[in-house]
Amino acid sequence: MTKKQSKQPDSDWVCKPLLGWVGSKRRLLPVLLKYTPHRKYLCEAFAGSAALYFGSTFKRAFLNDVDLYLIRFYDALRKYPEQIIERFKQLSDKIDKDSYLKSRENNFLHLENKQKIIDFAAHFWYWNKLAFSSVMHFNKKGFFSVPYRPRKTPLKVNIEQINIIVKKLRNAKLYNKDFREFLSSFLKCNALDRIVFYIDPPYIKTHASYADKWTNKDIEDLVKICTELKNKGAFLLISGNKITADAFVEAGWKIEEIFKLWHCCNPARNMNLKEEFILSSR
Ligand SMILES: C[S@@+](CC[C@H](N)C(=O)[O-])C[C@H]1O[C@@H](n2cnc3c(N)ncnc32)[C@H](O)[C@@H]1O
Repeated sequence: MTKKQSKQPDSDWVCKPLLGWVGSKRRLLPVLLKYTPHRKYLCEAFAGSAALYFGSTFKRAFLNDVDLYLIRFYDALRKYPEQIIERFKQLSDKIDKDSYLKSRENNFLHLENKQKIIDFAAHFWYWNKLAFSSVMHFNKKGFFSVPYRPRKTPLKVNIEQINIIVKKLRNAKLYNKDFREFLSSFLKCNALDRIVFYIDPPYIKTHASYADKWTNKDIEDLVKICTELKNKGAFLLISGNKITADAFVEAGWKIEEIFKLWHCCNPARNMNLKEEFILSSR
């Protein structure tokens, strides 16, 4: 039997993701680890908060997301961690609504110099902790546009966690591409047996800012590319809702497990029981 990711992992390499993220797989992690074999590289085509990379013992990764601000944040954090922590601590002194709304007047469409990059990353992190449901949305003019979520407890920096995050980000290659271009580039790779591909696409019709652009055609294209990778011998792990799972099953993929999770389904914070389907290319 293939060796799986350890459940009591090497603590120097494992931590919680730094960012809250709509669709984060933090709570699904124990289930994902059950189906994740040991390989040298993890490849996340829809990285988001990268809960699997940070929560597993993988030491190297390819992380891709179409969200430019997210990838800029990860890149900045691995380059200038001390300065970003310092600036984040300054911002964190004020977590009231007025300070939050004032901070949204900053514009980070263009990051002209190092200082601007640091300021952007500290704000991105601060907004992530105070924005409603951790939704991260910037309007076309580059202004952060998510409403405030009241918070009573102060914002803290967990240095041990940040050290692991930075170390793992420095060991990762970051990409800001549409999944089609990103995944297709691996079709020519002759070391597919050294990679675990983790595919965690958006769901159609969620309130995530990225989900309104996700369509049936995207799912169709995703199934096609993943099946090509599978036919070339790659190992892929997929998580998704029933619509995603049905499309993969129709193309001959196997469901490993259906996991039930409570989640907040609307701005009124009502809870809903959601099914998460785990599939693999085994
Ligand atoms: C369900 S979330 C991934 C969550 C992630 N696994 C985690 O643990 O946080 C889906 C991600 O796909 C990204 N995304 C949406 N459309 C995409 C596309 N066409 N290509 C690449 N990434 C895309 C979104 O920005 C979002 O971060």
